[in-house]
Amino acid sequence: ATPVVVAIDGPSGTGKSSTSKAVAARMGLRYLDTGAQYRAITWWMLNAGIDVDDAEAVAAAAGKPTIVSGTDPLAPTITVDGTDVAAPIRGRQVTGAVSAVSAVPEVRARITELQRSIAAGAAEGIVVEGRDIGTTVLPDADVKIFLTASPEVRAARRSAELAGRAGSSAPTAQAGSDVAATQAALLRRDAADSRRKTSPLAKAADATEVDTSELTLEQVIECVVTLIEERG
Ligand code: C5P
Repeated sequence: ATPVVVAIDGPSGTGKSSTSKAVAARMGLRYLDTGAQYRAITWWMLNAGIDVDDAEAVAAAAGKPTIVSGTDPLAPTITVDGTDVAAPIRGRQVTGAVSAVSAVPEVRARITELQRSIAAGAAEGIVVEGRDIGTTVLPDADVKIFLTASPEVRAARRSAELAGRAGSSAPTAQAGSDVAATQAALLRRDAADSRRKTSPLAKAADATEVDTSELTLEQVIECVVTLIEERG
């Protein structure tokens, strides 16, 4: 059998990463987080002192860093010029700058080429998650899924994720306003990603949309596994 290629797209906070990693692990497939690649090139731009709002400067530098993604779903890795950037690419600075950098066509061309070569090299098949995988990067993917969720649910999930990462599990009086701030930032990023000219966040015509608002992670995983098993 030919290796299965699965494209999972959607806005932030829909459970794309958790779902994609679990599905890949369960089905013995590789896993590629394309958002991490855009975050990695953004991290490099910030580190190099490049003004991320200067599209020409970003375009001119787009070919400089070497980005390497490890595709084990149980332990995905990401390096830039040999430096492990898994932690800093999740920071506020990179999150605030990534939409501007990823809107630059030269950046997208470079990263898209990298993504296609990783997918082509995955002999056992791969789950690729992002914003434009089903529409642009891998239009011939065997299975295309578009995950959605209400803005409230997405903001709540992202806030919980950030709190977990910071190691603060106890709820605080700040929680309500944190969710509101997270929701505003997340909607801004999705709006920018959806409005950009080059391969915006969009559902492919032949993608299956799954609204995850009322589903547990396990239910979403099972839904996606079923769609893969029933393909063709
Ligand atoms: O998925 P994640 O939130 O890590 O993605 C970070 C950013 O990378 C997105 O907000 C978007 O600007 C960009 N991105 C993209 N195309 C993809 C994946 C991510 O433009 N396929």
